[in-house]
Amino acid sequence: MNFHVLTLFPDMITGGLNTSIIGRALEKGLLTLKAIDIRDFSENKHRRVDDYPYGGGAGMVMAPGPVYRAYQHVKELIDTRVDEMNQNLSLVNVDNNTEVKKDENIVNFKKTRVIYLTPQGKVFNQTMAEEFSKEEDLIFLCGHYEGIDERVLEMIVTDPVSIGDYVLTGGELPAMVMIDAISRLVPGVLNNDTSAEFETFQDNLLEYPQYTRPEVFMEKSVPEVLLSGHHANIDTWRRQQSIVRTVNNRPDMIDKAVLTKKEQKFLDEYLKSKE
Ligand code: ADE
Repeated sequence: MNFHVLTLFPDMITGGLNTSIIGRALEKGLLTLKAIDIRDFSENKHRRVDDYPYGGGAGMVMAPGPVYRAYQHVKELIDTRVDEMNQNLSLVNVDNNTEVKKDENIVNFKKTRVIYLTPQGKVFNQTMAEEFSKEEDLIFLCGHYEGIDERVLEMIVTDPVSIGDYVLTGGELPAMVMIDAISRLVPGVLNNDTSAEFETFQDNLLEYPQYTRPEVFMEKSVPEVLLSGHHANIDTWRRQQSIVRTVNNRPDMIDKAVLTKKEQKFLDEYLKSKE
């Protein structure tokens, strides 16, 4: 997976994503991350990229030219790489004298998705992360000031995305949030025992609480059942904890959770006990 981020603050992106699990995946070459400085595509001698809004109003607007040229630059890099891959594939096919039809292995020239981070976008969730993780390349466009000239957005953006109902000062943190959530779904990025397969949001239940040593911490003990070694009881307890957390913290999710009859009964009794 290749991430390309169009931004006015490239150091924020590379600095913020170079550590821990994502940093390791970058080192291993499972991911690539390029931050493209939109200012490099300004034609102004002071490298200006913003201007006053037509019609008046507070703040400045990012001009369409630098954003468009930065996008073109990235698009050309992607197209060249795909072209080269396709050329290599045709060479392999000729060398092997295989009967693979010319187009069979050819990488698709489908349009690379361009994600524009904006509070006006569709709200990001795990399903969207899964969908984006299947792409080979993703371009993120980070805005600043009062936004970006609408014409260039109409021309290049395929997916306007918000990370929640609050307003940030720019799109860099939202892009980093999305890149983190998408990256961990790319095969090989998480090690096997931290598989993303069974976790929060997978079945519309929040995760159960976790404990580690010491067994007693400031007079608080680890729940007895977890020390019992009785796996069926542990599983039941964890499911019940998930149900309790979900109904308390995310009541909007509980109706979508798939519960067994026994679990539904547990939930009904829990809700009754709270009345
Ligand atoms: N830019 C500013 N606020 C944002 C948000 N909530 N989500 C995505 N991009 C943003």
